[in-house]
Amino acid sequence: MLTFALSKGRLADKIFKMLKELNLCDIKILDDDRRLIIEQGNFRFFLAKPSDVPTFVDNGVADLGVVGKDTIIEEKRDIAELLDLGFGKCRMCVCAPKEDGDKYKNIVNLRVATKYPNIAKAYFDSMGQNTTIIKLNGSVELAPITGLSDCIVDIVESGRTLKENGLEDVTTIHDLSARLVANPASLKTKYDEISSVVEGFRTLLKEK
Ligand code: PRP
Repeated sequence: MLTFALSKGRLADKIFKMLKELNLCDIKILDDDRRLIIEQGNFRFFLAKPSDVPTFVDNGVADLGVVGKDTIIEEKRDIAELLDLGFGKCRMCVCAPKEDGDKYKNIVNLRVATKYPNIAKAYFDSMGQNTTIIKLNGSVELAPITGLSDCIVDIVESGRTLKENGLEDVTTIHDLSARLVANPASLKTKYDEISSVVEGFRTLLKEK
């Protein structure tokens, strides 16, 4: 039995599609499906919040997980990254009001609002810039507009949210995408099962 921790929605749908293409399982999720655990054949899936996927994998409750690189870096868990799945591509950026450009670089004790305090702190520490990190849980773009912060560290995908709120991305900190991760102990105890999934995914990714 191989257990996956996935986040509900588009990401889980992609993984189910890939496993179907590999003839490993055929999961159908309806729009009003409320199940959090789905089992079929030798596979079990936990549908978790994205930021909790590394927690299930680190604790060995799940053997494998699919999660964004942003969450992997932010959560700092003891998990092995096996494969870049190539979808969910976006960037972690420092963003500021359009009229400010890169003025943030010269602000002493910069106020940074973010959903990713570890990533933001590590970045500004590495640049030798003092910051006060303000943790928000969403709609981070509000912070510089309302005067809560000087800039934000956030995910930019299409760039629409920034544009529609008078902000722009100034510096890219990380390129991001979905990754297949594993519990290090499961990698040893279930090496063959995990390898066949990894090789299958690798083949599908090469074909695309
Ligand atoms: C994410 C991110 C940005 C937005 C970027 O927020 O924090 O706000 O998406 O996407 P875009 O570049 O395509 O506009 P999310 O949609 O997860 O909502 P949240 O702000 O409530 O966390």
